Amino acid sequence: MKKYLLLVPAALLVAACATAPSPQDRLTVNDKKIDQVIAQMTLEEKVNMLHSKTNMSSAGVERLGIADMHYADGPFGIREEGVPNGFQSAGWTLDSATYFPTGSALAATWSKEMAYLYGTGMGTEARLRGKDVILGPAVNIQRLPVGGRTYEYLSEDPILSAALALEYTKGVQDKGTAVCIKHFAVNNQETNRGSVDAQIDERTLREIYLKPFESAIVEGGAMSVMPAYNKVNGDYCSENEHLLNEILRGEWGFKGFTVSDWGGTHSTMGAMLHGLNVQMTGSNYLGQPVIDSIATGALTEALVNEKVKQILRVRYAVEAVPDDVANTKMTSQPECQDIAKQVAEKSIVLLKNQGGVLPIAKSVKKIAVIGQNAVLKTQSGGMGAGVKALYEVTPLEGIRKRAGADVQVTYAPGYKNFPGRRWGPAPAEPNPLEAAAIDEPADPALLAEAVALAKDADLVIFFGGTNKSIETEGSDRKDIFLPTGQETVVCALREANPNLVSVLVSGGPTDLRVLEPASPAIVQAWWNGTEGGTALAEVLFGDIAPSGKLPFTFPAKLEDSPAFALGNFPDPNAGGDLFSLMYRPDVLKMSREERQKLIDSLPKPVSKYTEGSLVGYRWFDTKNVKPMFAFGHGLSYVDFEYGAVKAAAKKDVVKVTFTLSNKGGMTADEVVQLYVSRPDATVEWPVKELKAFERVTLAAGETKTVTLEIPVKDLRYWNVEKNAWDLEHGKLVLLLGAASDDIRQQAEVII
Ligand code: BGC
Repeated sequence: MKKYLLLVPAALLVAACATAPSPQDRLTVNDKKIDQVIAQMTLEEKVNMLHSKTNMSSAGVERLGIADMHYADGPFGIREEGVPNGFQSAGWTLDSATYFPTGSALAATWSKEMAYLYGTGMGTEARLRGKDVILGPAVNIQRLPVGGRTYEYLSEDPILSAALALEYTKGVQDKGTAVCIKHFAVNNQETNRGSVDAQIDERTLREIYLKPFESAIVEGGAMSVMPAYNKVNGDYCSENEHLLNEILRGEWGFKGFTVSDWGGTHSTMGAMLHGLNVQMTGSNYLGQPVIDSIATGALTEALVNEKVKQILRVRYAVEAVPDDVANTKMTSQPECQDIAKQVAEKSIVLLKNQGGVLPIAKSVKKIAVIGQNAVLKTQSGGMGAGVKALYEVTPLEGIRKRAGADVQVTYAPGYKNFPGRRWGPAPAEPNPLEAAAIDEPADPALLAEAVALAKDADLVIFFGGTNKSIETEGSDRKDIFLPTGQETVVCALREANPNLVSVLVSGGPTDLRVLEPASPAIVQAWWNGTEGGTALAEVLFGDIAPSGKLPFTFPAKLEDSPAFALGNFPDPNAGGDLFSLMYRPDVLKMSREERQKLIDSLPKPVSKYTEGSLVGYRWFDTKNVKPMFAFGHGLSYVDFEYGAVKAAAKKDVVKVTFTLSNKGGMTADEVVQLYVSRPDATVEWPVKELKAFERVTLAAGETKTVTLEIPVKDLRYWNVEKNAWDLEHGKLVLLLGAASDDIRQQAEVII
């Protein structure tokens, strides 16, 4: 009897699993009710839902109890409340949020668990603010080392980006908030982002650039999608039949709604016919012109109904936060601050540690911290994705707190900070700590002060890198050199005191050809959120072992990276769209029509993706170009030993099992990485590609058996002739290691 009772639920479970609706299909549960509601709506009410109501909302229908949809940036903290019709601060006091580590920092954790928690943190705080949709995660592939939004995006690798995008999405949506995954698709540069045509082949598009979106949408049930500003193969993303109707809705079964990037809608007919639901912001395309087009017969009301239905599916899935509940307590919550700390702790990458300079020895009693990046906050700036953080622990604060009374910590700015474009009027007196140009040479007085402190210390910690005016939405960097004479400063510090650690505070890679030989130890510390300084101090002092791994390649020099090596970037037509002209004083004075005329007269910018799938390490490995620091690289304070690999290929999965041992004297995490290579393939492949990874925690001396699984579907390629995914059978070499350039074990299977 007992056995029987146990069997029944199991059988039911199997049956339920067999028929379980997909995450996207779950959005359709209210469709009948939605149809009835739509039948009660006037055409005006319906069209009113297809465009912005305020800068961060789109309308519901109050008469029918349908709440407005409230949006919030994303992607690394709930953005401060803006005035209804702009981004300026609304001056609220309860809207200080948790500043989570930015995208590249999250990706450096290589932790699915952290990405999920991060999503729950974002979701929790969005609900407190009464927001329905988070404008994130931002998951475009980091194609260019100079990319202005590298810090928002996750990785140069689609498998890593996809795994984290999926978990982030699940975390947010499990808290009852929708994600708006962005920027769909091929939004890999800020230069001419409002008009550039990304010309890309179908195989590369599918295998590299769409993969993170596909996972979050198909497996994670992402409820909304933000088409990007750019064009893909000729058509704007917000009216791209192939992307929005054929792939997103057709192939992936997307049931939610799309929201154009702000100002990224371009026409009424294009948007209506080719897959856009909501124009953000404005109503000049998806407002009255829709009503007029229905009157002339150019559009049908049935199409409007369909779009409204897609919006309402999300409206019904996400319960609106009542007005008297929203914004009644501080957005930033202790449990979310703790998540931010955990992510920061796992993201920090130890790039180099010659002679064991780190962790800081107990004998060190005087530390000189040099460089403004040790004190500058990174929560805001960079245009859209800033956070008004409740608090932010800077690196200097973190170090001082951890060092305690026994260790003296001195500080000097070392170099001037480059503040970038000025928004307000120029200050009456120039700030002596600000540079007028990014390549301004080192300031002699600041340099002398820093050297004096360095000479007088047991250990020097130099903080270099970029800032949020240098790496920012809206423009790409011109190069990846360290700014404002930082190289001169680090070399002088090395002369003054060889016991030197360099910490890089940036979202993207920098050129380290001068800094690397001058620095026995180098740490990549990112823009690491509210608790960034705390986490960094824990790593520097050895309370925890560093465990982050690079989510993108650090090229030795910019010209080595694929799009630059092939002359695909920068394109000669730079400077030709609304966004890149937006701040030119003469353009600012023009009327809308004059501006449009100017833009129409400029050459149409293109970006050719002829490097194909050879993005990031795929290029460096295939072309045998040695990077400064390879994709996946990151050291620890312990050594890990990789035991022999057992591998087996089944129908749906390739499994790799091995033992991993911590040979050191402290608990530490290792991120194990599994790459594949296909020596006998007839189809062209990069020399190796990441296919699975896992973060493993090991106590001192501990050994664990680890299994990594590669779903066979992830081994397929996009067959352009068949216009479908295809699997090439044959030999697969499995390369297991600690980084893309540190392969420890190898095995072969036949698939
Ligand atoms: C950005 C988006 C952002 C939106 C709203 C745009 O400029 O590209 O990522 O969500 O503004 O702030």
